[in-house]
Amino acid sequence: MSRRRRIYEGKAKVLYEGPEPGTLIQHFKDDATAFNNKKHDVIDGKGVLNNRISEYVFLKLNEIGVPTHFIKRLNMREQLIREVEIIPLEVVVRNVAAGSLSTRLGIEEGTQLPRSIIEFYYKNDQLNDPMVSEEHITAFGWATTQEIDDIIALAIRVNDFLSGLFLGVGIRLVDFKMECGRLWENDMMRIVVADEISPDSCRLWDIKSNDKLDKDRFRRDMGGLVEAYSEVARRLGIISEGERAQPAGPVLVKSEPEK
Ligand SMILES: Nc1ncnc2c1ncn2[C@@H]1O[C@H](COP(=O)(O)OP(=O)(O)OP(=O)(O)O)[C@@H](O)[C@H]1O
Ligand SMILES: [Mg+2]
Repeated sequence: MSRRRRIYEGKAKVLYEGPEPGTLIQHFKDDATAFNNKKHDVIDGKGVLNNRISEYVFLKLNEIGVPTHFIKRLNMREQLIREVEIIPLEVVVRNVAAGSLSTRLGIEEGTQLPRSIIEFYYKNDQLNDPMVSEEHITAFGWATTQEIDDIIALAIRVNDFLSGLFLGVGIRLVDFKMECGRLWENDMMRIVVADEISPDSCRLWDIKSNDKLDKDRFRRDMGGLVEAYSEVARRLGIISEGERAQPAGPVLVKSEPEK
């Protein structure tokens, strides 16, 4: 492997300098963390699956004209992305009550929400990513009113698209987290979807059994995380029946046909 400058090491991914200015390489690790790093484990094969699933989702988003940072997948664990200025918000879209919404508001997990709800959390591990309102976001200058409008419009499009995509393969999109960034092209700036969209950042329930096919398996010590993520990849047609999620050795990787 060639020497590359490491720009940032996070909990689940590493960012390296890309081959051209304005690009980065996003490397998916096998580390799983929850509750702001209080719980940590290494789960063989998770990074490979998230790289593939996130690639699939971002390619589809690009195809329908939702701007993203994704350029192309490079190998089993890495993808080439455009470097953006991350807006320090986690944008959460919820369709069904689960997780912190259920805990805070006492709404039973699995309750269909009257409409999709968008929440913002300030990305700050020291503060435990606190929930914030648009008032906080504009007052503290994390994003402008116009940018918030753009983020909400993106979040709604991504939610509608992903809900349909997963429904088509028998999976309910309960909620997901999205990160956005500012991408400059000449003097123009636009907001694009960044980071990853994978079973680490979504709640995905089997439509019939309500089985969890996402990171809650780790958060709640249910086991079977790689099997669940593989199931998502299999249903989306990313890996074929019987293909091992956790390659024992070099495995030929099929890529999307060039457009
Ligand atoms: N296109 C991009 N350009 C620049 N930074 C990005 C881009 N996409 C994602 N990032 C950032 O890269 C990091 C990915 O690493 P990882 O997800 O492991 O971080 P993390 O430990 O979850 O920390 P964080 O709280 O910052 O997300 C995140 O900080 C994310 O905001
Ligand atoms: Mg992250």
